[in-house]
Amino acid sequence: MLKSFAAAAAMFVALGVGAAHSADYPNRTITVVVPFAAGGPTDTVTRLIAESMGKDLGQQLIVENVGGAGGTLGAGRVAKADADGYTLLLHHIGISTSATLYRKLPYDTLNAFDYVGLVTEVPMTIVARSDFEPTDLKSLVDYLKANKDKVTYANAGVGAASHLCGMLFMQKIETPLVTVPYKGTGPVMTDLVGKQVDLTCDQTTNTTNQIKTGKIKAYATTTKERVPALPDVPTATEGGLAGFEVGIWHGLYAPKGTSPEILKKLTASLQKALKDPNVVKRFADLGTTPSPEADATPEALKAKLSSEVERWAPVIKAAGVYAD
Ligand code: MLT
Repeated sequence: MLKSFAAAAAMFVALGVGAAHSADYPNRTITVVVPFAAGGPTDTVTRLIAESMGKDLGQQLIVENVGGAGGTLGAGRVAKADADGYTLLLHHIGISTSATLYRKLPYDTLNAFDYVGLVTEVPMTIVARSDFEPTDLKSLVDYLKANKDKVTYANAGVGAASHLCGMLFMQKIETPLVTVPYKGTGPVMTDLVGKQVDLTCDQTTNTTNQIKTGKIKAYATTTKERVPALPDVPTATEGGLAGFEVGIWHGLYAPKGTSPEILKKLTASLQKALKDPNVVKRFADLGTTPSPEADATPEALKAKLSSEVERWAPVIKAAGVYAD
């Protein structure tokens, strides 16, 4: 009798403490882990969202870059963090492809996280160093077929969006290229502008300004229609790669076990950030748009993650690509 009373009392205390935590949440700085190096597209999107959410929540959201292994190290860091709402993860499509690419992951993709909401879906661009010889997508494909052992393709590691786009591109043109992995496409961009590597496929949130200033050369976007911020860049379909389309969706996650009250506050704040005029404008300047409110929900992100794990598994298995 005494034992069950003590257990009940302990439960009420825990619930009370939990409710107190949720009631005054957030009362200190929140860390948002970006699972790629600073300066890349995931970092850029996160910093814009973090700044806006911080103003709304009255506490700073600081970005921590945890790069490596195509984003799986950073995701693993958050999966193991306390579920107190003070460590979040902003990750993209790579969280779903890594579930198949990595046979040993430091987390269980579909059970390690709670969901705040979808953030944005970013187009990709096939880009090269500014003095790369081919002048358009068709001549690029011909050139790659003839020089496949000489051209270097840079990505942010197996599981990165730049890896996925590269894998689909190489499959489409039936030409494997020499791949150079980095911890993010921030450092990739530095080397592309510096002409240390030849080619990559990266998100418009990292390539738009470099394309506009002529620091890199763009061959195509991976979208149905041309990207408004890049009106002179043809789609891959226009360039002869029919149906070569891939969009990089991004989601905001918390460790599994985060209280529903905290998640509710975070989802409401994310939805406000996605309507923030500064976020909307900066996203547009970088070739992307915020997710609609109906997608910036836990249910939408949970459904997206599980459907994307299912969608990419057979594609990756057919490609015979694994990370370990
Ligand atoms: C990717 O390739 O997954 C991302 O562009 C990497 C990054 O955001 O740095």
